[in-house]
Amino acid sequence: MSSDGTKTVLVTGATSGIGEGLVRRYASTHKVIACGRNEQKLSALKSENVQPLRFDMTEKAQVIDAFNRVESVDIVILNAGVCEYIDDASSFDSSLFERVIHANVIATGYCIEALLPKIKPGGQLVVVSSSASFLPLPRAQAYGASKAALSYLTRVMQVELEDIDVTLVHPGFVETPLTDKNDFPMPFLVSVEKACDEIYKGVESRKREIHFPKRFTLLLKLFSLLPFSLWLPLAKRIKR
Ligand SMILES: NC(=O)c1ccc[n+]([C@@H]2O[C@H](COP(=O)([O-])OP(=O)(O)OC[C@H]3O[C@@H](n4cnc5c(N)ncnc54)[C@H](OP(=O)(O)O)[C@@H]3O)[C@@H](O)[C@H]2O)c1
Repeated sequence: MSSDGTKTVLVTGATSGIGEGLVRRYASTHKVIACGRNEQKLSALKSENVQPLRFDMTEKAQVIDAFNRVESVDIVILNAGVCEYIDDASSFDSSLFERVIHANVIATGYCIEALLPKIKPGGQLVVVSSSASFLPLPRAQAYGASKAALSYLTRVMQVELEDIDVTLVHPGFVETPLTDKNDFPMPFLVSVEKACDEIYKGVESRKREIHFPKRFTLLLKLFSLLPFSLWLPLAKRIKR
């Protein structure tokens, strides 16, 4: 918190979709450090309360250099991520797999390493995973595995960290450039505004898990508890 009581929030993936929505949402009441790669989009976000920070989070040296310039923060929201699908399971694309795991998991590790010492005692770490981590979904060998790893990593941080509250976010489908390219039905798709509202309120009340829309995420959670033999035929039907 600064001397005037204003909290500082750092958001990765601030140049698009959920991250951009969060920057706009927080900027009215907080100081925001908006992280991204796209210079033009970052400049457009710049304002009295929004300070852009440019780096590619898959490059460890860039991450360290960027966060060396950050003094301290109250809330860190690790939101940046990529989604790529493996279209043909029988010819596994290990380059795609590596790209997605690197961007979503390894690069998040770079950020955690560099940012943990910057989070003030009593501060918050928020990690945006996905409800895709609940169950095996068609074509999601890379994306689903990366988000399952991220959820596990975040849960362990909840077990381990004493003076930082950790929140794990499991969104359902949100209408963003990431999902705009999907060519399959996206049940219970929500707007960026609705998603950011859920995240903002959940972070404010320091929830351990934020998941939405409940009609979708609770259904997935229920299936994840049932025998896999009940999910398998459904997943195969989604695939067709
Ligand atoms: N949309 C959904 O339905 C949905 C559902 C569940 C979970 N999520 C998760 O929510 C998060 C945000 O997704 P979104 O839908 O808002 O996607 P988006 O609109 O594609 O935004 C992704 C953001 O991540 C940034 N990013 C990607 N790779 C980066 C890198 N190497 N270095 C720095 N920044 C990088 C992008 O920057 P550039 O513009 O430079 O690429 C962009 O700002 C992701 O982690 C996603 O997996 C989304």
